[in-house]
Amino acid sequence: MTHDPRELRDLARSLAHEGAGLAREMRRGGIEVADTKTSAVDVVTEADRAVEELLRSRIAAQRPEDAVLGEEGDDRAGTSGVRWVVDPIDGTVNYLYGLPDCAVSVAAEVDGQVVAGAVVTIPTGVEYAAALGHGATRDGRPISVRPSPPLAERLVLTGFGYQREVREHQAGCVAALLPEVRDIRRMGSCALDLCHVADGSGDGYVEAGPQPWDWSAGGLVLCEAGGRFELLDGTFTLGSHPVRNVVVGAPADGWDDFVAALATAGFLA
Ligand code: IPD
Ligand code: CA
Ligand code: CA
Ligand code: CA
Repeated sequence: MTHDPRELRDLARSLAHEGAGLAREMRRGGIEVADTKTSAVDVVTEADRAVEELLRSRIAAQRPEDAVLGEEGDDRAGTSGVRWVVDPIDGTVNYLYGLPDCAVSVAAEVDGQVVAGAVVTIPTGVEYAAALGHGATRDGRPISVRPSPPLAERLVLTGFGYQREVREHQAGCVAALLPEVRDIRRMGSCALDLCHVADGSGDGYVEAGPQPWDWSAGGLVLCEAGGRFELLDGTFTLGSHPVRNVVVGAPADGWDDFVAALATAGFLA
């Protein structure tokens, strides 16, 4: 079984397109909330489950020795050193309402490092993809971050979690950051937010708390497009657990002052 990042990327692309096609088709028939998870606003639909099952069955058929981590299923162990990290629908709330920013996100890790990823939008099939060391593309064409303007001219993308105490913390940080930047967007998909920074349709992304299935593919796309992506320690404690995964992405040339502004706004320890 290959560990070549380009071959893993190409499989990630085809999985993400197939998943997006299924989600698109299911949306045409009308879609409802099937269940809630960590809170009343943390919803899951039949399409989230069906797409995850499809991705898992394709991976099991083509690469039975690989591990799988996905938002809607149990962790699957593997023996090959490759682990697939999948979000069947990133942006479920947008999907439910028919808003555009929702996507299937598929990443492959080799020995714990993300080496390949694809993010495919559900309504339109736009594809972002990357392989470690081989650049990032949007619909097959190379993309790169835009040069960072001064902080006051940056468009910052962010997201919110589903738990009340997480949102209260995020709201305070966003309120402190907003006067310092051009504007803030909450588009609704962490994976696509990172891809938007990667192709220059945003100047930075920050969110306290996303999970590996949200950021693995998009984070690689951003790095391969000349950006920087890191999980930083946060100031926030959920119950007794400090939230350490403050997800930050930005063009490399704008990194230091973005991180300084995030620290001032209360996002970072
Ligand atoms: C969510 C989206 C959202 C982000 C949340 C994620 P989901 O993923 O990425 O933009 O703000 O933290 O949980 O639930 O739509 O897959
Ligand atoms: Ca997600
Ligand atoms: Ca999801
Ligand atoms: Ca979810």
